[in-house]
Amino acid sequence: MKILVTGGAGFIGSHTIIELYKAGHSVVVIDNLSNSSKVSLERVAELVNVDAVPFYQVDIRDRAGLDKVFTEHCFDAVIHFAGLKAVGESVSKPWEYYDNNITGTLTLLDVMRQHGCKNIIFSSSATVYGDPVTIPITEECPKGSCTNPYGWTKSMLEQILSDIQKADPEWNVVLLRYFNPIGAHPSGRIGENPNGIPNNLMPYITQVAVGKRPELGVFGNDYDTPDGTGVRDYIHVVDLANGHVKALADIERHNGLSIYNLGTGHGYSVLDVVKAFEKATGMKVPYRIQPRRPGDIATCYSDPAKAARQLGWSAQYDIEDMCRDSWNWQKQNPNGF
Ligand code: NAD
Ligand code: UD1
Repeated sequence: MKILVTGGAGFIGSHTIIELYKAGHSVVVIDNLSNSSKVSLERVAELVNVDAVPFYQVDIRDRAGLDKVFTEHCFDAVIHFAGLKAVGESVSKPWEYYDNNITGTLTLLDVMRQHGCKNIIFSSSATVYGDPVTIPITEECPKGSCTNPYGWTKSMLEQILSDIQKADPEWNVVLLRYFNPIGAHPSGRIGENPNGIPNNLMPYITQVAVGKRPELGVFGNDYDTPDGTGVRDYIHVVDLANGHVKALADIERHNGLSIYNLGTGHGYSVLDVVKAFEKATGMKVPYRIQPRRPGDIATCYSDPAKAARQLGWSAQYDIEDMCRDSWNWQKQNPNGF
């Protein structure tokens, strides 16, 4: 298939492009580079052994820019990663988040339908479950209340995409709800490149290990979990990337609307991750217990059975692989790209 990848210069997009090439698909990327660097695509080209990954620096809110790309290429499907994703920033800049993520996606969908491309895979998040009513979380678990505008953009876009598919059954929409993506390509050539102080656990740990930050703050040890720290379902980004390739099957068989959790089904606490990282890398990660972070929940992990059953997809990498590959990327690229 010929796939348009929006946000393809970013963390998950760049890893997905590699798996798309490996599966024999062709790819065109658009990205406004607001949270990424073109160097990631140069490295992808190197890893898949092509001269260059076709790339347009276009914002998804730029209708004319999108129209030009869709006029020059005929796409079988769009994998839509482009979006802003910093939870804290979304609280202070809600307008910017709603505009970028929602106006951007509405513009993309309109240009898609004008060009007769009605197949989309959308990056959603486990955040749409809010504080989940059942654990492990199946896709039938009701959506919950989000604690921040970023989460609401995901929840609202799921609704928008579902309504559009319902009104026009020519659309095929796949909503992929990611749990916590970490790790990096095993080559160490591409990985997660956060701006400033990392918000998420794994990039913070690798920056402590590489000596950029003195210690990890552990946000709360009084949750109702085995060791009191928050439990999450960490998933290797290469497994996640493969989930997108497998999800194309639902588009090929005109499945209408489908929703999948992409997780491993295993929950690890913050201290489990610290221990796994130390074991996998031999590095020490000093930490200090701090107060809970507002908006955090105690436990979140998936039931990944539906993706296994319907897509034949399941995660292959374990937590030590994830730690080893995150570290391999960080130590080879202490200042990112
Ligand atoms: P990322 O920031 O590395 O990648 C997103 C890319 O989109 C960036 O390259 C950015 O420059 C681009 N972008 C942003 N706004 C754009 C716009 N208006 N026009 C064009 N390009 C734009 O993030 P990621 O971790 O790779 O996440 C990819 C997607 O997955 C996002 O939609 C994110 O919300 C979602 N997601 C991520 C996680 C996670 O933990 N990383 C979890 C759940 C869902
Ligand atoms: C967060 C977002 C979620 C987003 C996801 C992207 C919130 C409330 N949720 O999820 O919307 O989709 O990132 O990956 O922000 N932790 C520490 N110290 C740190 C960082 C994190 O102890 O320096 C703990 C957290 O309290 C949590 C766990 O580590 O228990 C994972 O945190 P994080 O990586 O930020 O992911 P989530 O909070 O699950």
